[in-house]
Amino acid sequence: MNVAIVGGGSRCLYLLNFIEQHTFQVFVPKIVAVADTDPNAVGFVKAKNQGLFVTEDYNDFFDREDIGLIIELAGNLDIYNDIIGKKGKTVRAIAHTTALFFWEIARIARKEQDANLKLNEAKTLYDVMINELIEEDVMVIGTDYRITDVNDTMLNKLGLKREETIGHFCYEITHHRDTPCSGEKHPCPLVQSLKTHKPSKTTHIHLDKNGNELYYSISCYPIKKKGEVTGVIEISSDITKDIKRQKNMMQQEKLMSIGRLSAGIAHEINNPLTTIMTSSMLLQEDTDPDDPIYSELETISKEALRCRTIVKSLLDFARQSRPVKKSLNLNQIVMDTLFLVQKQAGFNDIKITSNLSSNLPMTYVDKDQIQQTLINLALNAIEATDPGGNIIFSTKINPKTDMIHIDIIDTGCGISKENLDKIFDPFFTTRETGTGLGLAITHGIIEQHGGKIKVDSTIGKGTHFTIMMPVRHGEKNGE
Ligand SMILES: Nc1ncnc2c1ncn2[C@@H]1O[C@H](COP(=O)(O)OP(=O)(O)O)[C@@H](O)[C@H]1O
Ligand SMILES: [Mg+2]
Repeated sequence: MNVAIVGGGSRCLYLLNFIEQHTFQVFVPKIVAVADTDPNAVGFVKAKNQGLFVTEDYNDFFDREDIGLIIELAGNLDIYNDIIGKKGKTVRAIAHTTALFFWEIARIARKEQDANLKLNEAKTLYDVMINELIEEDVMVIGTDYRITDVNDTMLNKLGLKREETIGHFCYEITHHRDTPCSGEKHPCPLVQSLKTHKPSKTTHIHLDKNGNELYYSISCYPIKKKGEVTGVIEISSDITKDIKRQKNMMQQEKLMSIGRLSAGIAHEINNPLTTIMTSSMLLQEDTDPDDPIYSELETISKEALRCRTIVKSLLDFARQSRPVKKSLNLNQIVMDTLFLVQKQAGFNDIKITSNLSSNLPMTYVDKDQIQQTLINLALNAIEATDPGGNIIFSTKINPKTDMIHIDIIDTGCGISKENLDKIFDPFFTTRETGTGLGLAITHGIIEQHGGKIKVDSTIGKGTHFTIMMPVRHGEKNGE
């Protein structure tokens, strides 16, 4: 509908802009004419610049047949009445009071809509944090340390219902303490955020029910109302895996550098050792076995051979020998190993038995290397076990992970918690005659086969090693 406006001031300008910027659906207005006695009025100027019909006398409107609606925005009731009297029958007119009334309604409605939108946004954000299963633990805490809300993830981990946490102190629920967290190891992020009015971040070390260390990264965001901090949102994520991965990587790097170093030295020693061995053997050949020199030469060869064995394990450790894989049943390797170590075990009055799964799939492994790892583990177990003890080798397939498990369980002396972290380190040994290379080599070989090794031990009760090997079908040799 074509609209003419009487009064070219700021309201007219607003209307011009509004109509320009919005799409109308039921009623589509098009401003075609503006009248004002002041040709410098802002709305008038804009209309003129847009090429609309402008006039200083609104009576000009009545000559035009295209105008369907006249809006009086001059704020003068006399003008409105004059328009009513002069306009054609089909032309409508709106007084500025009516216009203002609708304007006001529109303004309030929009404001409420905006507020609702904001409210909805905040509610959605809150819902996401509190009700959806995001990975992080989220807690809303008041300045008095009392929990006002907790998300489902955290409730699941705590094994509590929401009612059992709300209103309780955060330190009571998460740390089983009677007082707020404090100190260097457990700084309270809430206290920091209250003090600084800014977000804060800390790391807490918690213990799970088995006494294992869990690392938590905790971020705290203050909630402000009129400049006052009324509480905080605390988001904590379990970063134990990342920390462990980092430690693992450092361990790998350490192993690699030690490996390279040992490989270099071992290589250098290998050649002179061979020379010593062959020379003493040649001399031995020319010597009468009854000559005392003969047995001295024998000692030289024997000791040189022992050095060669050590050098070989160093080279193995440095993973110089790549695995040559064949399709094999791990049960067979376990049985071969038991056959080899049986004598040694019997010697120490230790019973060594097996419990092998009958449906073990074939897998691609380097038989010698896997046998070496099993011998290492068996010898360690024998060394740790007193006469009368037991060692069991068992195999099974874990259908969930598709990994073959080889378990080696002994009733030996066990490994202390602090040593448990070090046993795979090269040269770590608690035995007088040990080299500390057995488990480092074992670890390397299992990793090269894409497997994993883990250990569980209780001092005085025994040790349980588990090797997990992937089932791999149809791979080529050497891969
Ligand atoms: N089954 C076991 N029971 C108790 N302690 C063990 C066992 N296996 C390994 N260990 C510990 O791990 C250490 C490192 O083992 P290893 O790398 O084979 O070196 P070594 O046998 O030369 O000492 C051993 O000295 C011992 O303290
Ligand atoms: Mg050993």
